[in-house]
Amino acid sequence: MAFIKPTQPKDEPTVDFSRLPRHVAIIMDGNGRWAKRRGLPRTAGHAAGAETFRTIATYCKDIGLEYLTVYAFSTENWKRPLEEVSAIVGLLKKYLLESIQKMERDKIKLHFFGDLEPLPGELREMCDRTNEISKRYDGMQVNVCFNYGGRDEIVRAARAFALDCAAGRRRPEELTEGMFGEYLYSAGVPDPDLVIRPSGEMRLSNFLLWQSAYAELYMTDVLWPDFTPEELCRALAAYQSRDRRFGGV
Ligand code: FPP
Repeated sequence: MAFIKPTQPKDEPTVDFSRLPRHVAIIMDGNGRWAKRRGLPRTAGHAAGAETFRTIATYCKDIGLEYLTVYAFSTENWKRPLEEVSAIVGLLKKYLLESIQKMERDKIKLHFFGDLEPLPGELREMCDRTNEISKRYDGMQVNVCFNYGGRDEIVRAARAFALDCAAGRRRPEELTEGMFGEYLYSAGVPDPDLVIRPSGEMRLSNFLLWQSAYAELYMTDVLWPDFTPEELCRALAAYQSRDRRFGGV
């Protein structure tokens, strides 16, 4: 019989909380359109999106999800106006500060996937500190993809493997999919079971290309700032209704 946790929002499709996906990944899309519809600057959309991130991450922790990965800033997002890029970097800093304080209480691990090199030194140090603190905890792991691109990640991994071969630490013929995974930002993290994309777009946009090979996809027209725990439950219920065959029968 399905076990229904009392925390499930009312009037939503039934989610069996005893068989949640281990890893949910979300493309936090639609902040700009959300702001435009309200006559607000795009930066206001990102601020609202960051609040949604907080709400959804908290809900995921409450229901016992193991891994949550969010796409916060892509390698292509630098093409946006400086003001918008600065606002997103500022939000990352604000929520990082808050998260560091909360990690202790919630035992949450916070990791970053992406090249943090171009970030301001102070922010990079905060990210390093967060990674360090995370080693002490065993709660939900949140991965924030920042200056992240799936192709970039794969190229970096290939380069690192080639360097290991050149240095005699590895041999090309011993490379397996599992070993390659150890060179990715996501080393040690199970592949996402469910990838959610709000805002009506039907593409992966360079998100977790290697890791999403067998992920179930869930797209919704809801814009990210309007995304609620109810909406997440809809995605989880849809996931649970699917038949995952991983290429088998
Ligand atoms: C995509 O929407 C969203 C982004 C590029 C930025 C997402 C950033 C945050 C939610 C805030 C910072 C993150 C954390 C983890 C605190 P879009 O701007 O492409 O929207 P549009 O497609 O409607 O224009």
